[in-house]
Amino acid sequence: MKVISSSPGKVILFGEHFVVKGRLAVASAVNLRTNVSIEPKTSWPSIIKSEQLNTFIEIDRNLNFKGDKRLSYLIKAIELVKNRGNSIRPFLAKIYGELPVAVGLGSSASSSAAFLSALLAFHNDNVGKDDLFILTNEVEKLIHGKPSGIDSAVVVYGGTIAFRKGEKPRFINLRWKKGYSFVIACSRMKKSTGEVVKSVLDLAERHWNIFKYIYDIAEEISKRAIEAIERGDLESLGIYMNIAQGLLYSINVSNLELEKLAFLLRSLGCLGAKITGAGRGGCVISICKDLDSIPNALKNLSSKVFITTLGALGTTVKTLFD
Ligand code: PMV
Repeated sequence: MKVISSSPGKVILFGEHFVVKGRLAVASAVNLRTNVSIEPKTSWPSIIKSEQLNTFIEIDRNLNFKGDKRLSYLIKAIELVKNRGNSIRPFLAKIYGELPVAVGLGSSASSSAAFLSALLAFHNDNVGKDDLFILTNEVEKLIHGKPSGIDSAVVVYGGTIAFRKGEKPRFINLRWKKGYSFVIACSRMKKSTGEVVKSVLDLAERHWNIFKYIYDIAEEISKRAIEAIERGDLESLGIYMNIAQGLLYSINVSNLELEKLAFLLRSLGCLGAKITGAGRGGCVISICKDLDSIPNALKNLSSKVFITTLGALGTTVKTLFD
């Protein structure tokens, strides 16, 4: 038998960082996916190979591992599966897909959710989405320290969601206008979400008498953006994206490269542009009509441009029998 699972990447449309302190945020799953296959091995150690990172780890029956530390978060995932009463059998897992790593598109949550769901199915443990969300977020805590849960929610449930920390996400009915595309332009800089989140929290705490207003505007933008998404009002969404980018600049998560990308996209006629995810690197998102000129115009600034749709399917898993 072989189990194959797949989780989407994600974009945060509105409210990154502010969501960590309880403000409303909006995120959507995108069809850049992480896939995991798991098949039995006749003996220990278990092996996990990552095609994206071109590396692997070996794990013994006591869950001690040897190999690349970048994959050590998956040991936490195995422990969580074990703690549900499963007796872990030796396995070979392969992680592969087109979702880039450490650029704010949810690769850690996506690979955690895909790996967890495949390992659970491998042990005949039929977990529901609500439990998978909780487990994925436990792994995210190990990676990022204080995740709001938005990444785990959107990669597990899929679709486009309104999210508030500690509450169940609400699905938003996305109405898109014909002729417009959703563009993700990635900078050349990678970042650590945990570090950026921590520095924003420190800054907010030190200057809360001003920051409280910034957080309140972020809440208001998310509310208005949800209404705009539901009525297919992309022009308003573009304006809200620009305002949101101003807020992200003011909490010190933008930089010259990201500002240049956002300005360039706007100058090409796109409807607004903003950072997605933690910032200080990663990607900028935009809504664009005339796509012909975009890849060429961005080629000096952007390592990768994705033209994609929003609202992809959440985590899926299937078991193939010999
Ligand atoms: O992992 P990223 O870069 O997509 O950032 C996650 C979004 C933050 O709001 C910055 C952190 C969080 O946990 O919500």
